[in-house]
Amino acid sequence: MSVQGKNILLVITGGIAAYKSLELIRLIRKSGGHVTAVMTKASKQFVTPLSVAALTENKIYDDLFNLTDEAEMGHISLSRENDLILVMPATANILAKMAHGIADDLATTLLLATDSRVMVAPAMNVRMWEHKATQHNVDILKQRKVIFVGPEEGDMACGEYGYGRLAEPMDILTALNQFFAPQDQILRGKHVLITAGPTHEPIDPVRFLGNISSGKQGYALATAARDAGANVTLITGPSTEPVPQNVKLLKVQTAEQMLSAVLNNLPADIAIFAAAVADWKVADYSEQKIKKHADDDDIKTIQFVENPDILKTISKLVSNRPQLVVGFAAETTDVLKNAQAKIKRKECDIMVVNDVSPKTGIMGGDHNSVRIINLNSEEIIDYKTASKDKIAQQLIAYIGGFNK
Ligand code: C5P
Repeated sequence: MSVQGKNILLVITGGIAAYKSLELIRLIRKSGGHVTAVMTKASKQFVTPLSVAALTENKIYDDLFNLTDEAEMGHISLSRENDLILVMPATANILAKMAHGIADDLATTLLLATDSRVMVAPAMNVRMWEHKATQHNVDILKQRKVIFVGPEEGDMACGEYGYGRLAEPMDILTALNQFFAPQDQILRGKHVLITAGPTHEPIDPVRFLGNISSGKQGYALATAARDAGANVTLITGPSTEPVPQNVKLLKVQTAEQMLSAVLNNLPADIAIFAAAVADWKVADYSEQKIKKHADDDDIKTIQFVENPDILKTISKLVSNRPQLVVGFAAETTDVLKNAQAKIKRKECDIMVVNDVSPKTGIMGGDHNSVRIINLNSEEIIDYKTASKDKIAQQLIAYIGGFNK
């Protein structure tokens, strides 16, 4: 599952982030991949051809009209004799040229002549990225199956903040590895069942008890598991997240419905319980809307009863227990201590632990920061703060390795 042995044609364009291509070349070479670099005229203002040649241990190509190169390797063969073309950093200018078929230098000519798949890692000022022209070009390129890595959100070299930062070289390497992965997907053929989102426990026809979970982390896990070759069943409480394609989606409202959906969809090889299930439901559902004042001046008292614990129920199954049961421990105090007690109490194999105190912005947010604990080992793995998509990919990689 890697770039090992693959030939990458790296097109370096003229952006301030061009220097990061040196780090990526180093990472690809370390993973056993080969890099041939094409540099645009502007890119040489940011990195020297000598550095690129030294790191790739290869000749640099930069001139469309250089006859020696044409004799040695014409631009047509240069554009085809590779496993992938990567444009990094990809400026707004090159995206526009690619989208509209302009070929006015070696890089753009190669991109027009190629029949290889193309990956781009855009890097530009936030306004340039958000400009309708760029977004339109991005849409055109995506339709043509150009693979995008990033851009990321963050501080820019120009002092502004927003989307437009080049993805980190390590993330581009991950994208390359994923691109070359299909032959040996780690969860190929496994049935992975995932719960996601909050549950809503009705109080009366118009009210419910719920929580602020968005479902993002569970949906991202479903996507990552699917990409790793699994057959995914995603059982979700109310969520507005876009539904991942090629995933079996089952929508539920309450914890009890979620439990029955889980039981009805066993057997599974792996079950991941990412849902923020409401711990309680109301003891007596009111068929009529409850009045603000039950008896003129008394505020209505609502009795709660405990919901079934889905994770615990599945972990303790004697027959049909998935080989691997993963729970989430969202805590606000004594995070690790509580999670360690919880993994023992619930008897799941792996617990993904996170601090959901309001200051972290994790619950309902786009980012997560997790630790993994394992019922059978003392080891604690820390994943630094990242998007929920990236955390999901890391968790699936971990789970895939554990499940071998
Ligand atoms: O006990 P607590 O709610 O913190 O446990 C969290 C873990 O248990 C999560 O994996 C969650 O999906 C699962 N859970 C469940 N059913 C419940 C409550 C929690 O599956 N009723």
